[in-house]
Amino acid sequence: MILPIYVYGQPVLRKIAEDITPDYPNLKELISNMFETMDHADGVGLAAPQIGLPIRVVVIDLDVLSEDFPEYKGFRKAYINAHIHEVSGDEEDMEEGCLSLPGIHENVKRFNRIHVTYLDENLEEHDEIVEGYLARVMQHEFDHLEGKMFIDHISALRKQMIKGKLNAMLKGKAHCNYKTKTVRI
Ligand code: NI
Repeated sequence: MILPIYVYGQPVLRKIAEDITPDYPNLKELISNMFETMDHADGVGLAAPQIGLPIRVVVIDLDVLSEDFPEYKGFRKAYINAHIHEVSGDEEDMEEGCLSLPGIHENVKRFNRIHVTYLDENLEEHDEIVEGYLARVMQHEFDHLEGKMFIDHISALRKQMIKGKLNAMLKGKAHCNYKTKTVRI
């Protein structure tokens, strides 16, 4: 089922998301709905707060990038109770977008190596060092679990430049071709 994507201004996007227990109701269905919602919106990642749930669940699909990054062929994974423990390596600048910030794309500096722990879809524990493009996507998605969005990483000047678009979202306007849920004021 395709769910509406919560847009900038929705309080749930600023909450710190909670770990879930293995008996969380209909977890498989939730993950499947998150994949479907992300696919429909042409995203590479989606975090549960973006569908209104303040829980630590994320889906990532990098297959669309496999022409440039063959190592991501068929890459489609869910991350449960995900936590970043350390970031390291070099800082790299790259343009990012976010399904909760339609129409905004800005360069974001991120470290290229992270230490993460999470459970996979079968609730197996993982403790990994992740590098490269996946490390960037994970940082973007796992930021959502800390109540952060990529615009928190841009300069005051750039933020000023996109203020009009952000204010429009706060007034309930989001221009995109997927279902959204904007805040009403
Ligand atoms: Ni995002």
